[in-house]
Amino acid sequence: MLVPTPPMGWNSWNTFGADIDEELIRQVADVFVQTGLKEAGYTYVVIDDLWEADERDNRGRLIPDPKKFPSGMKALADYIHSKGLKFGIYSCAGTHTCAGKPASYGYEEIDAQTFAEWGVDYLKYDFCYKPAGVDGPSLYRRMGQALRATGRPIVFSLCEWGTNEPWKWGASVGGHLWRTTGDINDSWESIEQIGFSQNGLEAYAGPDHWNDPDMLVVGMYGKGNVARGGCSDSEYRVHFALWCLLAAPLMIGCDVRNMNAFTHQLLTNKGLIAINQDPLGRQGFRVGVEWDYFETWMKPLADGSVAVGLFNRHKEWRRVITAPWEALGIHDRRPCRVQDVITGEDYGVHTRFFGAPVDPHDVVVVKITPLRDA
Ligand code: GLA
Repeated sequence: MLVPTPPMGWNSWNTFGADIDEELIRQVADVFVQTGLKEAGYTYVVIDDLWEADERDNRGRLIPDPKKFPSGMKALADYIHSKGLKFGIYSCAGTHTCAGKPASYGYEEIDAQTFAEWGVDYLKYDFCYKPAGVDGPSLYRRMGQALRATGRPIVFSLCEWGTNEPWKWGASVGGHLWRTTGDINDSWESIEQIGFSQNGLEAYAGPDHWNDPDMLVVGMYGKGNVARGGCSDSEYRVHFALWCLLAAPLMIGCDVRNMNAFTHQLLTNKGLIAINQDPLGRQGFRVGVEWDYFETWMKPLADGSVAVGLFNRHKEWRRVITAPWEALGIHDRRPCRVQDVITGEDYGVHTRFFGAPVDPHDVVVVKITPLRDA
């Protein structure tokens, strides 16, 4: 299996958009190692759209923009690999990429071969400029086949925004993850709209095939390509905790070279990452909601425990949010140990339910472990 747990990494799009070059990508790889992101599990360094030159070469091969990537993609891949990291790139199933560069429609085999020769480990494959009348899913099948035929293991990330319900066919065309929604932006509204709408897709995710509610905006604070006002620290905490409970791919979108202490701590939080990377690979789902604002979500874990998120979506009210054992599938009288996933604090042994006060636009995540009879 290529991605037995959700892929973790960084992607250039959210912060940098068009403003990318080989120096930036090398610096990101360096920072992965220096700041402990690599140690925390982040592996894939992914270049999104706008790496491409305007034209293919005379053999029909994609070439990188010579101003941005003068040393070429093979050299960059080698550099990333030398750091023990993996290299991802972007193309599109239509005639052009979303930003208007040459894309892979009709060139699937030659592009897959090019990527394999460069040492690409991960391909994000977009859905703009699809020729009219062509069946969308078949385009992903074509690239999936072309990638497999290269013989190189390449994670295939489908980016068709949920248009054709890719959770139903993504794995069958060779996909390892698929976007379930349109693009995220750096605002609470976007996080809320995308994140909390993932409920119901949990049956479609598991080891080697993940739902992808788009990349993280944690730590952007209103700067960069998908800026839209930015979020507070607690709102980024909700975002990251929810993505962890959803077993979502964790693709960082901020400028990792300039993370503040909060961003670094959140993105490397051991407890949350362990939940995201739990080997059972189950996607979390909603088990309760009160007054439209106070939500309880659970994610079953491999060791027989349950991760629970108590989410407060209200802007002003602080509120005790509860997780009744009944909603979690645990017998009422079963004693369970409750531990705070983010802080590590032990909340002791409880029966019937656990509740905690949660601040506006914030979350408490606990691990609830049923205790066996003595
Ligand atoms: C689409 C994708 C984004 C990004 C851009 C690049 O909008 O959904 O994630 O890759 O294209 O142009």
